[in-house]
Amino acid sequence: MSLPYTQEMLDSMKKVEAGRAERVEKRLKGLEPKRMTADEKDALLQKFHPDYNTSSFVEIKAGPNKGEKAPKELADMLLANSRIKDMDLDLSHPDYDVDVLVIGGGGAGASAAIEAHEGGANVMIVTKLRIGDANTMMAEGGIQAADKENDSPAQHYLDVMGGGHFANVPELVKKLVCDGPSAVYWLNKLGVLFDKDENGNMITTHGGGTSRKRMHAAADYSGAEIMRVLRDEVFNRGIPVVDFTAAIELIKDTDGKAAGAVLMNMETKEILIAKAKTVIISTGGAGRMHYQGFPTSNHYGATADGLVLAYRAGARLLYQDTLQYHPTGVAFPAQIYGALVTEKVRSMGAMFINREGEVFMHPLETRDVAASGIIRETKERGLGVHTPVADGIWLDTPMIDMLHGKGTLEKRLPGMLRMYNRYDIDMREVPIVIYPTLHYQNGGIRISVNGMSDVENLFVAGEAVGGIHGRNRLMGNSLLDIIVFGRNAGQQAAKKCKEVTVKDLTLKHVDEFQQMLKAEGIETDLVSPKLLPDYRREGVTKLN
Ligand code: FUM
Repeated sequence: MSLPYTQEMLDSMKKVEAGRAERVEKRLKGLEPKRMTADEKDALLQKFHPDYNTSSFVEIKAGPNKGEKAPKELADMLLANSRIKDMDLDLSHPDYDVDVLVIGGGGAGASAAIEAHEGGANVMIVTKLRIGDANTMMAEGGIQAADKENDSPAQHYLDVMGGGHFANVPELVKKLVCDGPSAVYWLNKLGVLFDKDENGNMITTHGGGTSRKRMHAAADYSGAEIMRVLRDEVFNRGIPVVDFTAAIELIKDTDGKAAGAVLMNMETKEILIAKAKTVIISTGGAGRMHYQGFPTSNHYGATADGLVLAYRAGARLLYQDTLQYHPTGVAFPAQIYGALVTEKVRSMGAMFINREGEVFMHPLETRDVAASGIIRETKERGLGVHTPVADGIWLDTPMIDMLHGKGTLEKRLPGMLRMYNRYDIDMREVPIVIYPTLHYQNGGIRISVNGMSDVENLFVAGEAVGGIHGRNRLMGNSLLDIIVFGRNAGQQAAKKCKEVTVKDLTLKHVDEFQQMLKAEGIETDLVSPKLLPDYRREGVTKLN
């Protein structure tokens, strides 16, 4: 095994190694680096967090959030041409007719479908890739829930609000934290293999910004383990799943209520019509929009589709201008550039170190603060580690075994170890280089506590929702929110569909949206939803 670090990296690494024993000793004595004050954090965020980079945002020129700002790539998609613009569609003979239509096959969609089915509804999932091709599958570190004796939902609530800069919608946070313990109980009962001690008690750890150890995990593949179980449950219940089929527009009825979706087969481009009494959007995040040119930890289909569909149907977005850049994305090697290095690595003791071997911040600041600190260290202070791929800073992973005992990293972070080993980097022996990666869409579609958007009978769950996490989400609250709000949306939709009679189907709202764009003088060749990222280099011929 030959370590692929350049001589410059190796020279800097020596400085990291030189201070390691002292750092470990200090941590074992509980001597942590100083935390930043609230004012220091604010100043740091304003200067270095990408959300404050005004040149990357534009005003939304039309629609429910007119006059508000959004990343320009998202604003372009919200106000692009509909994929059905020139189509003459017959809505009178739908291909599917269900009680609950779930759009998206990740953890939120699967949880919603399971609960809708439990509530007696005839439910169907459509997903543009396959069930489980979702950010849930890629979640690593864990799921928060206040279920230990020294903890409480109230304590969890304060952490969530503090982490979100108190911009969170309070009722949604209350639901998140109060339903947390039962969400973990539900998953455990369904068969999720959480980490437990020799007595069968859940092992819990800290995440950035948590005041209690409440992160439940399945090693460092928590999301994959949860998705494995949810997917099995969907299949065991016989819930139909239509793979490789994207929703490209919502359908309403003549009362203006959500009543289905126009679907497109991703391979054949065949158009299908799904009629439904209630619709649940659970289309996930937006990392593949690569805002501000950032790499991403997200799965291939994370392109903000749900926001576009809901927006055209008249739903308001909330905090569409705030994104999460996970502080520890891979900066080197190139093959895994932007991939996630779970926060659990720093929660287990690895520290941020600059090129000169100095600790420059507390390792467990919240993500937005940590990401900004890293950007400052590289861009302003010039103390980043140069790699052939991107500049970053060291994350001193060998500290983990020194703090907790040999074998800990292999046991608790096997996915990480394997990922780096593939490129001849043994993170038990050498530090790794990381830099922020686009990880999460903090904002999304506005909902009330029953999971419904501004459009009657249109529910939303998971990363497509805005407001739960305010302007910054804490680790482990996304796996929690997909379960809590996924289940909630499924229950509420199943209940609601019992009282719904769908009137004639219509796509009038899509025509009206196009007319509004015209009236505002907005002309574009773009079409949306985006569905998949386009990584072709310029000059490559388009085949379709
Ligand atoms: O760092 C992580 O493992 C990511 C967790 C999360 O986004 O909740």
